[in-house]
Amino acid sequence: MNTYPEWLDDAVMYNIFPASFYDSNGDGIGDLPGIVEKLDYIQSLGVNLVWINPIYDSPFQDGGYDVRDYYHVAERYGSNADVVRLCREAKKRGMRIMLDLVPGHTSIEHAWFKASASGKKTTYDNRYVWTDHIFRGAPGLFLGGDTERSGKYLINFFSFQPALNYGYLNPKEPWQIPINHPDAIATRDELKKTMEFWLKKGVSGFRVDMANSLVKDDVDGKGLKIIYSDIRSWLDKNWPEAVLLAEWSEPNNAIRCGFHMDFLLHSAPAYTQLFRMEPGSNVVPDGKDGISFFRKAGGGQCIPFLDYLQAQLRSIGRRGLISMPTGNHDLPRISIGRTASELKVAYGFIFTLPVVPALYYGDETGMRHLADAPNRDGAYVRAGCRTPMQWNRARNAGFSTVPASRLYLPQDNSKTRPLVSEQENDPDSLLNFVRQLIALRKTFPALGPRGKLVVLHAEPDGSAVVYMRSWKGRKLVVALNPADRNETVSLRLEGNLSPRFSCGDVAAEQQSGNATFRLGGIGFAIFELK
Ligand code: BGC
Repeated sequence: MNTYPEWLDDAVMYNIFPASFYDSNGDGIGDLPGIVEKLDYIQSLGVNLVWINPIYDSPFQDGGYDVRDYYHVAERYGSNADVVRLCREAKKRGMRIMLDLVPGHTSIEHAWFKASASGKKTTYDNRYVWTDHIFRGAPGLFLGGDTERSGKYLINFFSFQPALNYGYLNPKEPWQIPINHPDAIATRDELKKTMEFWLKKGVSGFRVDMANSLVKDDVDGKGLKIIYSDIRSWLDKNWPEAVLLAEWSEPNNAIRCGFHMDFLLHSAPAYTQLFRMEPGSNVVPDGKDGISFFRKAGGGQCIPFLDYLQAQLRSIGRRGLISMPTGNHDLPRISIGRTASELKVAYGFIFTLPVVPALYYGDETGMRHLADAPNRDGAYVRAGCRTPMQWNRARNAGFSTVPASRLYLPQDNSKTRPLVSEQENDPDSLLNFVRQLIALRKTFPALGPRGKLVVLHAEPDGSAVVYMRSWKGRKLVVALNPADRNETVSLRLEGNLSPRFSCGDVAAEQQSGNATFRLGGIGFAIFELK
C-alpha cells in the first residue's frame, strides 16, 4: 500500500521557470497568464504535473527565492487570481499545479525581517536566528552591522536571505531556541498557513526549497524529522491529496522525515557520472571534464547510479517516490555537448525508470545552454539555463513581442535553434520522441514507479544497459547504448520479445531461451516480453 496519494504514481512533471516561459503582456518577462495560454501545449506533452519556480512578491535578487511576501504573487507574474485560474484551467486538462515553497529563508525586505532587525521588541524577535550581541562571535554564516538590532543574523544562502528560525536540535547558546520553543513553533505554523493559503487556491502541492536546511545543528536529521512529520500529519488530515516534493537529494532521508517525494540531483552519489550537470559548471566541454555515461564519447559509469537508485528504492518501499529531472533552473542544460540523438537515449533512460520524471521547460526540444548569458536576478552562471522558451519563427522565437534588448534574458539566436513549431511537424524530432515516451508510460504502467526494476545487463567497461520493468504480469525490456559504437548483449530470457519503441538501431534475436541484443551506437529500445 502506498502512503502517498495514488495519483503520484502516474505523475510526469514539467518544470517552468516563470520569467522565461511565455510573456502574455508584452513586458519581456513571462507570466502566469502566459502559462495559462500555453496549457494546451503542456498537456500535449502528456505531462500531468506542473511545478513552477517561485512566483511570490520578491525583490528578485535570487530569482524569487528571496520572498518578500508569501501571500502575494509578484506583480511581474500577475495576481493571486491568476493562480486560481491557472489551477482551474490545468484541472480541466487533467493536470495539477505545484508551487515552490521557500521555507528556509526570506528576503531581507520581508516585513518579518524588518521588524526583527529594528532593534525594537516585536513578536518577530525570534523569527530569524539572531545572536544576542553584535560583537560576540558565532559559528557559521552570521552577518551583522547593517541593522539597528545589536546581534548577528544567520544567512541560509545569499547574504540577503536570512534563515528563518525553526530552532536548534540541541541549543548551546542562550540565543539558540529549541525546536519546541513557542517562537520556533510559530515559524512552523506560519509555514502551514502559507501552504493552506495556496492549497485553498487550488494548488496540489509544493516543491520545498533547500528542504534539509530548516533545523540548525541537526546532524542526524532528528529535528527535521520532528518538523516534517508534524507538517505531514497536518497535511494528511487536512489535505490528503496534496504532496510535498523535497529539494534534498537523499530520498531515504527525505521520505523518512515525511516527504512524499524527493529529487535525485547532482549531489546524489553517482548521479553526475550519468549526465555531468554540476551547478555552476557552466560549460562542460565534451570529452574533457565532460565525461559522462550518456554521451557518445562515453566514459562515465552507469552501474554506481543503478546500484544507488535500487538501494534507495528498497529503503523507501511504497512510502514515497523519487523524482528524476532532465535539468532545472540551477543546472547547466542537459543539451550541452549532446546531439538530439544522444538526448533521446538519455531521456529514454530517465522516462523508463521507477521514478517520477521531470522535464525542465525547453529540454523537450533540446534548448541550448547559453553560457554567456548575463547575470539576471542573482542567477549568475545559472542564467544560461533560464533563457526564454523558443516557440516559433516569430519575433523573439514567439516568447515576447518586446524588442530583443528588453527580454528577460537573451535567447539563442543561432539559425539552428530548437523551436517547438518546427519540431511539431517532424515525426523524428526530440519533442515528438518525448511525447511518445510519456505516452508509453501511460500504455505500460510497468514503466512507472509501480513496476519492478531488474537490471539484466550492465558492465563497468561496456556502454550497453538492459533492464526489465514489470508489473501485474506485464513485462518490458529496455535496452540502450549511449556510446557511438556497436555493442552486443546476450542473456538468458524466457518468453518472446516484441519491439514496442525505438530510436537508433537496436534489434533483438532469440533462440532457445537466449536473447541477443544488437545495439548500434546511440540506440534505445523498449520490447514487450510475453
Ligand atoms: C534553489 C536555488 C536558490 C536556492 C536558495 C535552491 O536550491 O533551487 O535556485 O538560489 O535554493 O533559495
